[in-house]
Amino acid sequence: MFLIIVDLAMIFLLFLIWGIAGFRVGHLAFVSTESRIRSSVRGNIVLLGFGVLLLLGKIVTTSILGSIGWLFIRDTVNLQFVLIVLPIASALVFSVPRLLNIVRSGINGSEQATEAIDRAALSTPALVLPIQAAGLGSAMDLILTLFFPAKSMQWSNLVVSLAIFAAVIGVLWVIQLRRFQTIDRSEGRSNIRPTHRALRISISMLLVIIGVSSWFMLSSQASRIPDRMSMMSGKMDFGGAAVTTGHDMSVMNHTASDSSKTVSVTDLVGPQNGEPDKKFTLTAEKKTVQLPTGATIDAWTYNGQSPGPELRVKQGDLVEVTLVNKDIEEGVTLHWHGQNVPNGEDGVSGLTQDAVMPGQSFTYRFRANQAGSYWYHSHQQSSEQVEKGLFGAFIVEPRNNQRSEAEDIVVMNHTWSSTNGSSAGLLDTLERRKVASGSPVRLRLINTDNKPISFYLTGTKYKVAAIDGTDLNAPTDLNAPTDLQSNRLELAAGGRYDLTFIMPDKPVLLSTGSSANGILLSADGKGAAPEIVKGPVFDPLSYGSPKTTPFGQDSHYDREFVMVIDNKLAFFDGKFGRFHSINGEVFPNTPMFMVKEGDLVKTTFVNRSFVPHPMHLHGHKMLVLSRNGKPAAGSPWWTDTLNVNPGEIYEVGFRADNPGIWMDHCHNLKHAAEGMMLHLAYEGVTSPFEVGHATQNQPE
Ligand code: C2O
Ligand code: CU
Repeated sequence: MFLIIVDLAMIFLLFLIWGIAGFRVGHLAFVSTESRIRSSVRGNIVLLGFGVLLLLGKIVTTSILGSIGWLFIRDTVNLQFVLIVLPIASALVFSVPRLLNIVRSGINGSEQATEAIDRAALSTPALVLPIQAAGLGSAMDLILTLFFPAKSMQWSNLVVSLAIFAAVIGVLWVIQLRRFQTIDRSEGRSNIRPTHRALRISISMLLVIIGVSSWFMLSSQASRIPDRMSMMSGKMDFGGAAVTTGHDMSVMNHTASDSSKTVSVTDLVGPQNGEPDKKFTLTAEKKTVQLPTGATIDAWTYNGQSPGPELRVKQGDLVEVTLVNKDIEEGVTLHWHGQNVPNGEDGVSGLTQDAVMPGQSFTYRFRANQAGSYWYHSHQQSSEQVEKGLFGAFIVEPRNNQRSEAEDIVVMNHTWSSTNGSSAGLLDTLERRKVASGSPVRLRLINTDNKPISFYLTGTKYKVAAIDGTDLNAPTDLNAPTDLQSNRLELAAGGRYDLTFIMPDKPVLLSTGSSANGILLSADGKGAAPEIVKGPVFDPLSYGSPKTTPFGQDSHYDREFVMVIDNKLAFFDGKFGRFHSINGEVFPNTPMFMVKEGDLVKTTFVNRSFVPHPMHLHGHKMLVLSRNGKPAAGSPWWTDTLNVNPGEIYEVGFRADNPGIWMDHCHNLKHAAEGMMLHLAYEGVTSPFEVGHATQNQPE
């Protein structure tokens, strides 16, 4: 993370130094007196020295980043070699000896310069061009890094950048050649008249300004999300698979152009008939609620509560939930985060349904096939609605198992902004609970915030029994060997950890790092919170024991997708700013990952930005294969929301076994709302729903 910033700083400094050097060297011919020329040349030599040192530094940072994984630097290396390394190398070969000659000429032992400087030599293209090329190259590198990261992963874009570079060098060459010839003839200072020169410079400046501002205006226009658009209009990425016949646009045109028939998301639904095993009604309404801390929240609630009611079902139950919208003008939905429901029940506005407006209702029916800790939330305007309180826990208990723990406690981490403007969290006070010693306890941690949170369980050894709802194989004790120090559990935004332990005969504290808040379990509901001694961070990559999985690192993958995440300057829906991009793009220009039912799919996440991104795929569980090239070595780690930290590369695999069009986005919902999302689409599936300013649908 630190390295990513240093690397960026180097790119900026390279541009600064080589830009100045290129500018100065181009104007040597116009410097009036010889002594000034000499000092200017000396200054340039010093600058070049710095520039070369910077280049060496850049090579070091790039190679360290490259050691994380080739994908980290693949695109930058190709470009930077041509844009920076080559010009600087040629500056060393061609320019530096000539500059040194100029300084030396005329200094014959005496302090006074006697011999005249060969003024024509000052504008030899061989002297000037390499330095100007390095200046131009580093400027282009900076622009590409800030505005077009990851774009050069595609060959076509790489070629375009290089062509522009070559063209500008060509123009500079011609300018320099003319300058050289005019000087040669007049045997003295350049005979280009200063007024001409000033005129020429201003005209070129003007052209640049016009060019840049029209590019800004056009990009701003182009980024506007149209009044109506299908969420499937993204550029299709087939993940390296040979594209089957009739592929092109049969999906986009909503028509079948080959033998395979298309199916609408509205047909991909749960069992429509049959008595549900569990039936709930959730009514979305605005309500002022009071948190345990006493803070009041103007919340958006389900059934007047925030968090909404805890829904508990048994694995295999046919669940029917009726969503009623009382008064949320923006419309609401229900999404079953992490539970692989049929696509039509997934609750994404504009993709699998229209947002449910005030007075309307919508019924979800599905079988809860996966036991574990899940949660539900509105997937309309989610960045706002989840924060305001439209979420709750969705717990699926194992089928035949009687509840295996006497105490099964859901702990949600959520932060609202309270009515007085400050932020208020669920874990802001110390909540006491009575738990008899000797009884088995399960804590279900659910992070509904936008950022990862650190939890500490203090006063007992314990196991992480499940991640994102899936049980781990042979989990071992944490806080081991004694319970004197507490491992740090870093829980992804949107992610879940289940912790299990047998209640000891002393108090146990679940906290976020301070003993003044959290949940204190004790036999009598009294007692002091134990002191927290912070231990090492829990790493799921090597926790528990391996077990056979349906596929793994060595399997053959039918499709392989890459998501390179950058922080870039861009336009999103007409607004200019810094956004998190996937493969250099923000929605709606992000790619659409295309799969066929049955495909084995690999996705690689590369985080080159400065903040963590919890990557969430709907409708499927991803098996973590490796992190930064290190294969997963513990229990199979199935996830639906994977926290990818800056400087990390994760490979995950999943089976495309749930046809539909699925969101694949960052669960920092602010990022998603700013375009950090794309879709995983099965070939042949269509959606009649639309997003855009003229619709009520705004999924993020
Ligand atoms: Cu929890 Cu797409 O969401
Ligand atoms: Cu993000």
